[in-house]
Amino acid sequence: MSDMAKNKSLAINGGAPVRGREDFIIFGSPALAQEEKDEVLATLDSGWIGTGPRTMRFEEEFREYTGARHALALNSCTAALHLSVLAEGLSPGDEVITTPLTFCATVNAIIHAGGTPVLADVDPATGNISPEEIEKRVTPRTKGLVAVHYAGRPCDMDRIVPIVKKHGLFLIEDCAHAIETEYHGTKAGNFGRFGCFSFYVTKNVVTGEGGMLVTGDSEKAEWARVMALHGMSKDAYKRFSVDKFKHYQVIQPGFKYNMMDIQAALGIHQLARVEENWKRRDEIWNRYNEELAGLPLVLPAPDEPDTRHARHLYTLLVDEELSGLSRDWVVEALTAEGIGVGVHYISINEHPYYTETFGWRPDDYPHATHIGRTTISIPISPILTDNDVKDIVLGIRKVFGA
Ligand SMILES: Cc1ncc(COP(=O)(O)O)c(C=O)c1O
Repeated sequence: MSDMAKNKSLAINGGAPVRGREDFIIFGSPALAQEEKDEVLATLDSGWIGTGPRTMRFEEEFREYTGARHALALNSCTAALHLSVLAEGLSPGDEVITTPLTFCATVNAIIHAGGTPVLADVDPATGNISPEEIEKRVTPRTKGLVAVHYAGRPCDMDRIVPIVKKHGLFLIEDCAHAIETEYHGTKAGNFGRFGCFSFYVTKNVVTGEGGMLVTGDSEKAEWARVMALHGMSKDAYKRFSVDKFKHYQVIQPGFKYNMMDIQAALGIHQLARVEENWKRRDEIWNRYNEELAGLPLVLPAPDEPDTRHARHLYTLLVDEELSGLSRDWVVEALTAEGIGVGVHYISINEHPYYTETFGWRPDDYPHATHIGRTTISIPISPILTDNDVKDIVLGIRKVFGA
C-alpha cells in the first residue's frame, strides 16, 4: 500500500473532506432551468402529456441540429439501438462488430435483434474502436458494425467508413455521448444508416429517460416509427387529435418505445442550450487539463484535428504502476472527499454474462480491459461552479498527494 493510502489528512482515513455531505458534488447532475420547469407545467396543463405536439417539435429541432433527414424521438437510446439493429433483419449466426468499451445496451441491442456480438479492441489512447481491430474481426458472417463515439470523441470515420463499404456492412453509430460531436465537418449520427442518441439524466441533453433515432433512409424511418408504437399504422397523437377519429391497424409486432411530451418539454429547452452548455463543459475540460497535468495519472488524449469532441466524459486513468494507487481505492477516496465520480466502463468482456455466454477473455481485448480497470470519470456537468471545479481539482490533488 502506498503512503498516500495511509495519509491521515484524507477523508477516507478519517480526515476532513474537501466537501461535506451536505454539499457533495453529484456526478452528472443535470443543468435544468426555469424554462424546462415552465414547459413541463404547461404540458401538464395542456392535457396532452403522451406523444404529441412537443415530441414532434423536439424531433424537428433535433433533426435540424444534427442535419439528419429523419428524427424519431424514443424513450431511450437503448430503444434506438434495438430498432436500428433490428431494422437490418439479421439471421441467427449473423455477426455484428462493436466495441468492448461501452455501456451494455450497445451489445444487448445486437443480441436482442438476433445477432451475435463480436468485440474489436479499442485504441489505447482514445478508447474508440480501432479500425485495425475491426478488420481483424470481419468474417463471412459479419453483417455490420455498431461504432460508439466514446466520451464524445468521434471515431476514426475516415478509416472506418471504407472498411464498412469494402465488406458491405451496415454502420450504426451509438451517439449516446456525442450530440455535439463533429468529424471533418459532419455531425455524428450521419455516417451510417442510423444514429442513436441518449437523453438519460447524465447526458449532454437531458429528458430524464429518452432517446432519438436519426436516419437518412425514409423507408427505415417510417418502419421505425411504426415499430416504436406497437407496430400500429397510425400513432396515438394522430388517432386522438381534433381531426376525425381514426382506427389503427397493427401491421407489425412492435414495441412501446415512444417519447412522451413531458420528456420532450425538457428536451426542447435542453437542446436550445446545448451549445451554451458545451462551452461551459469545454471551459471545465481545459481547466482540468491545466490543473491536473503533472499528477501521476493519464489525462484524455488531445483532440484530433478538424474534429469536435462533445466533452461528455472527462476520464482519468489511474495506473497503479504510476501512482501506487488502485482505481477502486481512488474512487472511494474521492467519494469520501465529497466528489462523486463514475466508471465508464468496466470492459464488456469482464461482465459475467458475456464471459460465460461468448467466452470472451481479458487478453482478447487488452486495451479496453486495461482502460476498464483503471478509468474514472470526474464531474463535468455545466451546472458546476468555478468553486466546485476548484474543489474537484483540490480533492484529486489531495488524493494523489500533490
Ligand atoms: C454508450 C452508450 N450507449 C447506450 C446507452 C443507453 O442509453 P439509454 O440510457 O438512453 O438507453 C448509454 C447510456 O448510458 C451509453 O452511454
